[in-house]
Amino acid sequence: MSDRLRSSRAWIGAATAAGLFGLAAALAGHLDLPLILAGLGATAIGGWLGSRGAAKSPPRPTATAPRHAVAEALLTHVPDPVILVDRRTLVVEANPAARALLPALHHGRPLSFALRDPEVLDSVEAVLSSGMPRRVALSTRVPLERTFEVQIGALPMPDGSGVSALLFLRDLTSARRLEAMRVDFVANASHELRTPLATLIGFIETLQGPARADTQARERFLEIMRVQALRMTRLIDDLLSLSRIELREHVAPTGVVDLGALARQMVDAQGPPAEARGATIRFEDGAGPYRVPGDADELTRVIENLIENAVKYGGGRIGVGLTRENDPRLGSRIVLSVTDDGPGIPPEHIPRLTERFYRVDVASSRARGGTGLGLAIVKHSLNRHRGRLTIESTVGEGTVVRVSLPDYGAAAAPAVLDQASAP
Ligand SMILES: Nc1ncnc2c1ncn2[C@@H]1O[C@H](COP(=O)(O)OP(=O)(O)O)[C@@H](O)[C@H]1O
Ligand SMILES: [Mg+2]
Repeated sequence: MSDRLRSSRAWIGAATAAGLFGLAAALAGHLDLPLILAGLGATAIGGWLGSRGAAKSPPRPTATAPRHAVAEALLTHVPDPVILVDRRTLVVEANPAARALLPALHHGRPLSFALRDPEVLDSVEAVLSSGMPRRVALSTRVPLERTFEVQIGALPMPDGSGVSALLFLRDLTSARRLEAMRVDFVANASHELRTPLATLIGFIETLQGPARADTQARERFLEIMRVQALRMTRLIDDLLSLSRIELREHVAPTGVVDLGALARQMVDAQGPPAEARGATIRFEDGAGPYRVPGDADELTRVIENLIENAVKYGGGRIGVGLTRENDPRLGSRIVLSVTDDGPGIPPEHIPRLTERFYRVDVASSRARGGTGLGLAIVKHSLNRHRGRLTIESTVGEGTVVRVSLPDYGAAAAPAVLDQASAP
């Protein structure tokens, strides 16, 4: 008899019991002894009906080879480690993810040879003796620091050899890391907002108190307050841009823009304020147009951030240039470079510059109106545009920041390009 047939008989039994009990309840209108007796009787009749089918059914077929193969294939493709141990905690099965995490895991060997965590081992023993599932945390240090949640459940063996335990390890490392990043981010953002707020409150109190009648001081203080309020506005604008870009990060841009034209507009716009700071921007326009698939607003912000950084932290001579390059892996690319002859960036800082709020020198960034979010915004915009950012710098000589984006003109014939660029 098939499982379905057997279970339908059990359902008939349960439904009969429920039906008779319901009838009795409707007739009696309330719970009393005859009603309880009727309920018990109904359950007995229902159970008997259900078990009649089960009794007649032939013994359940043992696990067949094809089903075993399917189970094994399923386990192989589960990305999380799964381990099956028998009642003596000897390893019966382990999927590739489990063997990769615990290389000492071998069929027929005790689980404790590979997994030395006493809490997990004790829990496995407890599950095997009680049959009740358990959940424990597991941290590994080698080869990497990782955190897992181990779910342990009891599993009766189909061959009747008793109960075994199934360990399912859920990797919480990236979830924990994300959580830590989120907490850091909120703490950083609050701190960045609190500093100008504290200054504002301080000056307001001074103006209300000791400096009430001092017109000269009032003008000076109001100017400082304006600068601090503008800083908060910039910070909020940057935070909002960042979250908007992150929301769209997985949606490819649909437009096509000429990066050369955008760069020229930006150089024209930033030239006068740069000159006021004693810097000149030279634009080297090559053989345009430099068309890339992209969102004009976002790419304008990218170029603006890079030129602004060169003006703020770089030297007096800034160069903005465009070229077309052939990358062996990525095909034809449009490369925008922003070069300065400033003090440069010490190498240990370079990998961290795109982190939110990371600045080489916090005081100098703040003094120049920086929020520490510019390069984070650049990085997320470039992710969306399948772009790359590279920063090369030599202390005492200057910095070159390069942005490479897919060449729209070449995108029409990627196969030909790939062949041409193959080594
Ligand atoms: N061209 C550059 N030369 C020197 N340092 C730079 C340059 N560009 C960026 N930096 C450093 O990288 C940090 C992060 O830049 P960014 O994310 O744009 O933040 P912000 O400009 O708001 O400070 C800056 O604070 C600065 O220390
Ligand atoms: Mg910046």
